[in-house]
Amino acid sequence: MRETEQRAARSYTEQFGEEPDIVASAPGRVNLIGEHTDYNGGFVLPCAIDRRIAVALGAGGRGGFETRLYSADFDEMRQIGEKDSSWADYPRGVAWAMGEEGYEIKPFSAAVAGDVPLGSGLSSSAAIEAATALALDAFSGLGVGRTDLAVICQRAENDYVGVGSGIMDQYASLLCEAGEALLLDCRSLEAVNVPLDLPSAGLALVVCDTRVERGLADTGYNDRRATCERAARMLGIEELRDATEGDLDLLSEAELKRARHVISENARVLEAVEALEDEDFEEFGRLMYASHASLRDDYEVSTLELDTFVRAAQQHGATGARLTGAGFGGCAIALVPQGETEVFTDACEQEFAERAFEKPAFYEFVPSAGAELAD
Ligand code: GLA
Repeated sequence: MRETEQRAARSYTEQFGEEPDIVASAPGRVNLIGEHTDYNGGFVLPCAIDRRIAVALGAGGRGGFETRLYSADFDEMRQIGEKDSSWADYPRGVAWAMGEEGYEIKPFSAAVAGDVPLGSGLSSSAAIEAATALALDAFSGLGVGRTDLAVICQRAENDYVGVGSGIMDQYASLLCEAGEALLLDCRSLEAVNVPLDLPSAGLALVVCDTRVERGLADTGYNDRRATCERAARMLGIEELRDATEGDLDLLSEAELKRARHVISENARVLEAVEALEDEDFEEFGRLMYASHASLRDDYEVSTLELDTFVRAAQQHGATGARLTGAGFGGCAIALVPQGETEVFTDACEQEFAERAFEKPAFYEFVPSAGAELAD
C-alpha cells in the first residue's frame, strides 16, 4: 500500500475499531493543455500526478451509528448528514449522486487521508470524489465502469457541492495511467493514452503554486461558462466545440474573445498530441506558451503572478509553460530541462520576490496512475 493508503486504513481502524473492507486512492491532476474546453464539448490533455487522496471504507462497526466520515488530515469526524461546506461534502456528494443514478450503496463509514495540495488547482476535490466512488463501487459490488464513475463524480461536484465544473478533473483522476497523458474528447467521453516520456526527453514537469487563492465556485468561472453558452446560442450551435474561425465574424466583445480561445485551444490540443507522438517537445512547448497567451488575452483568466511565472519560464530556459486548471490564481506548469530545475525555480522565486508577490511553492511531478483499489 502507498503511504496515504496506509494512513487512511490506520485511521479507519483507530476510529471505527475494525479493519476497513476497501481502500482506494486517486490522484490529483495537472492539465498539460486544453483549458476551458471541457464544458464546451472539446478536448483536454491532462495527466495524473504522484499525489493522492486515499479513502478507507467499511461497515464502520455500525452499532446503530449513522454513516461517519473521518479526515485524518483535519483530525475531524463528520456525520453523512447535511451538506456543510466542508471536505465531507465530497464523499457525501458521491454517495448522493450514486443514489440519484439508481445505484444502491450499502451503509458505510470512511476515513480519508491524502497529500494533494488543497485549494491550489491540482484537483484535490476530484481526487477525493474519485477515490470515494471507486471504494463505494467495490464495497457495494456495483461494477460501475470508470467513465460512468467519472460522470457520477461530476454530478456530485455540480449538483451537490454546487461547483459548475466540466468533467476533466474527475475523468483524469479515474482514468489516467502512469507515464501517459490522456487525450479526452469531452463530448463523446472517449479517451486515448498519449505517451508522455519526459525523462527520455530530458525534461521535468515543474509546477508553480502561486499561492493566490482561487475561488472556483466564484463568479469568474461561471461567468466564462455562461458567456460560452451565449456565444454558442448566437451561432445556432449546441456547443463551441462546433464553432469555426469563420463564425467569429458573427460575434463581438466577450463572446468573440471567449469563442476565439475555445476554437484555437481545441486545435492546439490536437496539435500537441501530434507533437507528443513525434516526441517533438519544442513544438509541444510552443503550443503551451500559445495556450497561455490565449488564456491571458482572450479568455482573461490569468493573473499577474501566473503571467510572471510564464514570462520567467520563457526567460530561464523552459521548453514550455502555461497556467493550468481554471486560472484566477492557482498553479502554472513548465517543462524544464532535467538538472536545471533548481536554478530555474530559484530564478522564478527571485522574480516573485522582486514584485513582492507571495512566495510560490514548487513541485516536480511525474505522470502517475489513476484511481486504484489497494491490495
Ligand atoms: C477546472 C474545472 C475543469 C475545467 C478547468 C478549466 O479545473 O474543474 O472542469 O473546466 O477548470 O480547463
